[in-house]
Amino acid sequence: MTILPKLHEIYNSAGLKPLTGHSTQHMFDWMDAPFTRFFDGNGIVGCAGLSLFEIMFLEHLRDYLKPKNILVIGNAHGWSTVALALTFPKAKIVAIDPYEPGIELTNKLAADHKLKIAAVAGLSPQAIKPACAEHLDGTVDFVLIDAVHTNEAIVTDFLGAREVAGDDCVYLFHDVVNWKMTEGLKQNQAVSGLQARLLTRTPSGMAVLFNQVPDEMLAYLDCFSDNTQLLAAYRDLVRQTMVKDSFGDALASLRGAA
Ligand SMILES: C[S@@+](CC[C@H](N)C(=O)[O-])C[C@H]1O[C@@H](n2cnc3c(N)ncnc32)[C@H](O)[C@@H]1O
Repeated sequence: MTILPKLHEIYNSAGLKPLTGHSTQHMFDWMDAPFTRFFDGNGIVGCAGLSLFEIMFLEHLRDYLKPKNILVIGNAHGWSTVALALTFPKAKIVAIDPYEPGIELTNKLAADHKLKIAAVAGLSPQAIKPACAEHLDGTVDFVLIDAVHTNEAIVTDFLGAREVAGDDCVYLFHDVVNWKMTEGLKQNQAVSGLQARLLTRTPSGMAVLFNQVPDEMLAYLDCFSDNTQLLAAYRDLVRQTMVKDSFGDALASLRGAA
């Protein structure tokens, strides 16, 4: 059964109405429209958590993975942390973030709904080792990296996570395409020798690094990825045939004019 109604109910019951999954075209071309914020009765709070579509992608990973220990770097209001706890109810989860109100909220939601989450106020990478040592049992098998959105930071976060992770840990990075972090991803792949998939069919352009996963999971990841040559050709075709180029038309109509 899907986790979505429960995830929404948990936030609604805390007075936070999830705003998520909207099309950029329906929201004045706002790039963040697909991502998750909340209405708290007065205004909008939160910081661009995983989109509805990305949560739906994530929840199906339970068909292929059985992580015992999960690390979240970048918790904000806990949206993706709570989604992971509902997806993998047997796993212990540590979430790290310096934003204390979000940490308090996440721990309260965890206590109220009996979720195995320990949210810890701290900064990656320094807080990773002590938080995992205190709250997890053994090595980490799944990591979500969604904190500072720079190439340098995702390398630092990844290297910090590697120190507490097992060999078959799966790493999910949010926002890789939208925040231009493919160089950091490539660097992480090169130093680790892990396999990579850029999930070009997710709203933020997420990415996954992994060692070995079941063939069925590879087939699932392929549904969210593209052959880069085919994708480039598709984009060119769309640009040439589908996109109205008003400026180009105006320039063409001026050709020959003084
Ligand atoms: C995009 S938000 C995370 C959204 C969250 N994953 C979700 O889906 O709702 C980024 C978060 O990273 C946190 N952050 C910034 N620097 C950090 C660091 N060095 N370590 C951990 N978290 C950090 C910010 O406080 C912010 O809450």
